[in-house]
Amino acid sequence: MLKKINHIALAVEDIDDAAKFYQNCLGLELSGIETISAQKSKVGFFQIGASSIELVQPAEPDSPLQKFLAAKGQGIHHICFEVDDIEAEIKNLLAKGATMIDHGPRPGAHNARVAFIHPKSAAGVLIELVELAQG
Ligand code: CO
Repeated sequence: MLKKINHIALAVEDIDDAAKFYQNCLGLELSGIETISAQKSKVGFFQIGASSIELVQPAEPDSPLQKFLAAKGQGIHHICFEVDDIEAEIKNLLAKGATMIDHGPRPGAHNARVAFIHPKSAAGVLIELVELAQG
């Protein structure tokens, strides 16, 4: 079951540079910067109430994000829904014919488990599912 929008992710060339507007003009605080080796990306989060904005930049030249930036430039990259049970949600989506990028969970930021739904199943939007780490 989907619980809420956990975050909206923006693809950026450089987190520190992109963060300036959000910090200086919007007064948000950047936290949780980490490199996600499984996704060859570096992420940082701005908490806004119960949701956050994620800035995501390529961490390696062959990062899939590099391709996205080359094709589309900076902008909204994905929307992330928080779920109770990611394995059950993946199974449910596959049973309903959704095209999944991930057929099983992979490691995400903050020790969470994530899986991506292909944009062709979701009106052109890349969707991430996240099951937060317990405790
Ligand atoms: Co994300």
